[in-house]
Amino acid sequence: MEQMLSIEFGLILKIHRHDVFGAGTDTIFASLEWAISELLRNPHTMKELRQEARKIGQGRLAIPEDDIAKMPYLKAVLKEALRLHIPAPLLIPRESTKEVKLLGYDIPAHTQVMINAWAIARDPSIWEEPEEFRPERFLNIRTDYKGFDFEFIPFGAGRRMCPGISFAETIIELALANLVYKFEFTLPSEDGLDMTESDGITVHRKFPILVIPTPCE
Ligand code: HEM
Repeated sequence: MEQMLSIEFGLILKIHRHDVFGAGTDTIFASLEWAISELLRNPHTMKELRQEARKIGQGRLAIPEDDIAKMPYLKAVLKEALRLHIPAPLLIPRESTKEVKLLGYDIPAHTQVMINAWAIARDPSIWEEPEEFRPERFLNIRTDYKGFDFEFIPFGAGRRMCPGISFAETIIELALANLVYKFEFTLPSEDGLDMTESDGITVHRKFPILVIPTPCE
């Protein structure tokens, strides 16, 4: 069953509902597991985020969606997690509709184009200490993943960019904020966390995260 999805600029897309389900679940899952992995590897970041969550949560049962906008550090954590661990590192293959010249290269019409967003997000000529997980880098810059800053395009860009961006942002931020608000996490061993990636269109952790969650007082 296909549904017509009408989005901004009057562009009409035909999107299969299985595409929406597939594109929306695996990517959110991957983003959340990488964000938590990085927080576990960077205790000072975890502490900073927990402090922000406690300030906003104020002892309530949970942080509601309306309060997420007041959590700039959380937003920076998500951006930094998406920069280092783009769920779909090569985005989705696209095809040129007409002949174009790009950076001195002639690209004929109907050429399959793959964009290495992973390499762009770790390019040392753009990012200072690109391999480091430092959410602070996003606190004082306007760079965002909404498709206007080509150095950071985990959701793609242009008319075929991800239509689930707001939904993904809301779900991941809400889950992350409340996990950190309600639990302390510790690793079961001193060996640290193996960050090996799996193969695939969506990149997950090769080995599941094993953590001990302790409910916060
Ligand atoms: C962190 C979460 C997500 C990431 C990183 C992500 C990333 C992407 C990327 C890179 C593309 C291709 C864009 C391009 O080629 O320029 C895409 C397309 C798409 N995404 Fe997402 N996505 C996420 C969540 C979601 C969610 C939650 C939904 C639906 C509820 C969704 C639905 C789709 C659909 C239907 C397309 C195909 C659009 C088209 O071809 O015109 N995505 N996504």
